[in-house]
Amino acid sequence: MSDFTTVYQRRNTNSVKWDSVEEIYSITDASQVLPMWIADMDFAIPSPITEALQRRLEHPVFGYSKASEETKTAFTNWMQKKHQLKIENKWILFQQGVVPSISAVVEAFTEVGDKVLIHTPVYPPFTIVPEKLGRVVETCRLTEQDGSLEIDFSAFEAKLKSGVKVFILCSPHNPGGQVWSKEDLTKIAALCQSNNVLVLSDEIHSDIVFKPNKHIPILSVAENLNNIITIFAPTKTFNLAGIQAATIIVPDEQKRKVLEDHALAHGQMELSIFSLTAFQAAYEHGEAWLEELLEIVSSNMDYVVDQLTSKVDGIKAFKPDGTYLLWIDYRDTGLSEKDMMDLLLTKGKLALEPGTKYGEAGNGFLRMNVACPRMTIEDGVARFIKALT
Ligand SMILES: Cc1ncc(COP(=O)(O)O)c(C=O)c1O
Repeated sequence: MSDFTTVYQRRNTNSVKWDSVEEIYSITDASQVLPMWIADMDFAIPSPITEALQRRLEHPVFGYSKASEETKTAFTNWMQKKHQLKIENKWILFQQGVVPSISAVVEAFTEVGDKVLIHTPVYPPFTIVPEKLGRVVETCRLTEQDGSLEIDFSAFEAKLKSGVKVFILCSPHNPGGQVWSKEDLTKIAALCQSNNVLVLSDEIHSDIVFKPNKHIPILSVAENLNNIITIFAPTKTFNLAGIQAATIIVPDEQKRKVLEDHALAHGQMELSIFSLTAFQAAYEHGEAWLEELLEIVSSNMDYVVDQLTSKVDGIKAFKPDGTYLLWIDYRDTGLSEKDMMDLLLTKGKLALEPGTKYGEAGNGFLRMNVACPRMTIEDGVARFIKALT
C-alpha cells in the first residue's frame, strides 16, 4: 500500500502551487491560504520512481542523455496495456512537456496568421500558446448539460470549414473531466480529415479516469493516423510535473521529420537523464500506485461533490468522468467572479482557479484540484463552506 495520507509541507520547495499564490492571486500574505488550484498533486510519487532516481544518482556521471529503446518500450507497453493502443517506438518524439509540444506542433505546421481551433472552456495554454505565436485562435463553445460537456458538431464543422489549419483537442477534457465517447472522437477525426485540418490531441489526463469510464485515444478510432498527432505524458498520472517530460506521437514519417527539424532549429535536446529515469520507472512500475491513487481521487471527488452541493446554496458540481479537477458551477449564487474570488481568498483562505482563466465560457465556474490527502480535502471544503455561508 502506498501512502496517500501524509500531508507534506510544500512551502519553500520551489513549488508553483504553494509558493506562487501571492503573485498569482495578487495578495500580500498567502501564508494561511490553502492552494487547490494548479494541477499537481500533494501526494508523494510512486516509490519505484524515487528508487530509480536514487539508483541513478549513485552513478556519478551525468553526461548527455538519450532515450533508449527500453525507455520507449516502457511507454508503448503501457499504452498497449492501459489503452489498447499500439504505438511503434519510431513514432515517439520527446519533449520537455505537453505545453512545449503544443507550441512545437503549432509552430511547425502553421504560419503566422493561420487559424487554430479549440473548444472552450479549455486549459489556458491552448489559447495562449498559439496567440503568442501570432496564430488566430478560433473557438467552439462546448455546451454544458448537468455537468456533462457536449460538442456542437454543426458549429464545430462550420469552424473547420473556415480555413482552420489545426484543431487542438483536450482528451479527457480540462476543465470538466469529460471522457469523450468513441462516437465523438470518430466524428472529430473524420471531420478534421475531410476538411484537411490536422488534429493535435492532448491526452495528458488519459490515465486518470474513473471506472466504468474508459479513455479512448483518438489514434485508436481515426481512419487516417497520418492526420493525428497525440501528446501523452507521465507527469499528471504520476505527479511528475517538475520532472518535465512528454511524448509526441507522430505516425506520419514526413510530419516526424518536420518536428525533428523544428527541434533542431530550436536547439532542443533529448530529455534530461533524470526525466528519462523517472519516465521509464513510472511506466514500468507505477501501475499499482496508480490503481490506489484512482480510488483515493474518486472518493475525494465524491466527498467534495456531496459536501459542496449539500451545504452551500447555489453550488452545482458533478463528479467528472476523469481528471482530479472538479469543475464547480456557482452561477446560481448570483456572485460575480471577482466577488467569489474575494470571498474564497479573504474569508475562506482558499485558492481555487477562477473559471474565466479557461475562457469566457468558464464564467460562473471554479476549478478545484482534489488530488491531496483527505485531511487537506476536508480543510479545503470547510474553507469553501466558511467563505460562502
Ligand atoms: C490539458 C493539459 N495539457 C497540458 C498540461 C501541462 O503539461 P506540461 O506540464 O507537460 O506542459 C496540463 C496541466 O494541467 C493540462 O491540463
